[in-house]
Amino acid sequence: MFEPVIVAVWVMLPAYIPNNAAVLLGGGRRIDGGRTMGAKPLLGSGKTWRGTIAGVTAGIAVAVGLNASRDVIIGAYGTVVPLFPLAAILGLPIGAMLGDLVASFVKRRADVSRGSAVLGLDQLDFVVGALALTLLASPDWFIATFTLPVLVVVVLLTPVLHVLTNAVAYYLGLKNEPW
Ligand code: CTP
Ligand code: MG
Repeated sequence: MFEPVIVAVWVMLPAYIPNNAAVLLGGGRRIDGGRTMGAKPLLGSGKTWRGTIAGVTAGIAVAVGLNASRDVIIGAYGTVVPLFPLAAILGLPIGAMLGDLVASFVKRRADVSRGSAVLGLDQLDFVVGALALTLLASPDWFIATFTLPVLVVVVLLTPVLHVLTNAVAYYLGLKNEPW
């Protein structure tokens, strides 16, 4: 019964980590370079090159690390966690960061200022991005890995994990808002 939970956390770690790495390491030049659309910022000051590159790099490192420790996990827990193909090693973190950028673009169009929360969008933007890009990059692996129970766990567990990690980052003073 825990198998879909273990598999869900395993496969989503390369998509979860990028956001946290971006919070820790972000800053510097904005991706939108201060450009606006109408009177509103294109993406806003919360989306930087350094944060995005750090996020993608961290996600790739996590996927490579999980691949390397896969045999140990299988030996210890007996759960056959999947091996990440190159398409997923790249697709999960890049998709996660892209989803987050698209969400900021949407928030700015809707006149939501940087850092303001949009329930649902903030928690699932990177999941949708990660899943969509991975599906495009490796449809066979995606279908074999993201079974219905795994997808259900991802959709239910992600907002909980996201809210928890952001709250921790906020109380540690790493983030300006607790979401
Ligand atoms: N960050 C970054 N680059 C990214 C994503 C995040 O530098 N691509 C950093 C920024 O310092 C950002 C922080 O991580 O302020 C928190 O990220 P997030 O919550 O996604 O952005 P917000 O600042 O809340 O902005 P938005 O309203 O656009 O979501
Ligand atoms: Mg935010």
